Amino acid sequence: MTNHDTTACAYRAQLLYFVADPACLEDPSEAMRYYSDGLLLVNAQGRIEACGDYARLADSLPADVRLVDLRGKLIMPGLIDTHLHFPQTDMIASPSPGLLPWLENYTFPTERRFEDKSHADEVAGVFLDELLRNGTTTALVYGSVHPESVDAFFEESHRRNLRMIAGKVMMDRNCPEYLRDTAESGARESEDLLRRWHGKGRQMYALTPRFAPTSTPEQLAACGELARAYPDVFMQTHVAENKDEVKWVSELFPKSRSYLDVYDSFGLLRPRAVYGHSIWLDEQDRARLHETGSVAAHCPTSNLFLSSGVFDFVAMRQSGVLHTLATDVGGGTSFSMLRTMNEAHKVARLGGWHLTAAAMFYLATEGTARALDMQGQIGTLAPGAEADFIVLDPQCTPLIARRSSLLDSLEEQLFVLAMLGDDRCISATYSAGRRVHQRDA
Ligand code: GUN
Ligand code: ZN
Repeated sequence: MTNHDTTACAYRAQLLYFVADPACLEDPSEAMRYYSDGLLLVNAQGRIEACGDYARLADSLPADVRLVDLRGKLIMPGLIDTHLHFPQTDMIASPSPGLLPWLENYTFPTERRFEDKSHADEVAGVFLDELLRNGTTTALVYGSVHPESVDAFFEESHRRNLRMIAGKVMMDRNCPEYLRDTAESGARESEDLLRRWHGKGRQMYALTPRFAPTSTPEQLAACGELARAYPDVFMQTHVAENKDEVKWVSELFPKSRSYLDVYDSFGLLRPRAVYGHSIWLDEQDRARLHETGSVAAHCPTSNLFLSSGVFDFVAMRQSGVLHTLATDVGGGTSFSMLRTMNEAHKVARLGGWHLTAAAMFYLATEGTARALDMQGQIGTLAPGAEADFIVLDPQCTPLIARRSSLLDSLEEQLFVLAMLGDDRCISATYSAGRRVHQRDA
């Protein structure tokens, strides 16, 4: 077995993490733990040992612990991306008038190449490099229909000791023959993969029916059985992304009350079920998401790029639906969760909601950890958590440096990073206490 132990290390910097949803508190600062001159102590097992004021902790630092001076920089938990497609890495930025032609013209031919394991191996490395460069330490990842694509992904993620969640796409109709599984083979291959990977090191499995149009009722039923048999395994799919897609689903499943109701009727609404997009929903759909503990993943760069629609933050909050942020690469146009925040802020604005910077960073860290039932494990700097964290550099470009010299609050500092930031702001990324990306290396 790979030994991932590291040496204990301490980092002196600004530190920030969340202990509650700032949007739910009158004083959002109560939702945060913030240390302007802080010390983060990481133990040899890759977990957070202590996090607090430098002045309070420095004296008790064991003599053999290396101290890294990162003053001027901001350490936060690693960012969490709750929906993206690793086989679509090479087709990011492919233009199309909308979702369905985009799938047909770019997505399916690109995903075909993942029948070749060596291609999948190569892209898995590029994809993980890109996530880490952007400060994303955990992601919910779609493979292609080929089980080998998911083996390639997990092998590389496991080798790097990253906390990742992924699954093989299931699709047995309405796609090219060369990408089709069957209800039986899709379920069998998914179960083989989850037995092999779920809980192996830091890897976790997600059942991944692509979306209702590409699965027969038999395939969704088989997926529902697996979802019941393995309650701690994730489930991910797309729902109500695009109006043409919604209409198509109503024709394919005429007995269902709504698109979401198709998944509901197969037992696929439950905790750890993550529904990408969730745009064209109604009140009853949102009530079902809420009462089943299912999660809506908002993908703003993708929704704007494919002109899919406007995610309704106000309605989601009013109905108490767990919601998260995601890039949806390659429909999304960036791997950066900072750029994703930028677009999420504007989408929220269009819908009459002011998404504060604190709320956005909460959503990308602690908020998602809670939504995924991984609280205390990732998305936080609290002692005991896995030491997945990022070092943000407010001096990384001339403009960001200049704007960052004119701040009058922590909210403003975070807002500048969310509006102007991208991979250039991620000075370093750490996973389980080990540095896995350094910007200027
Ligand atoms: N719906 C079904 N498949 C996909 C996909 O790959 N990307 C997006 N954005 N939507 C989908
Ligand atoms: Zn997607």
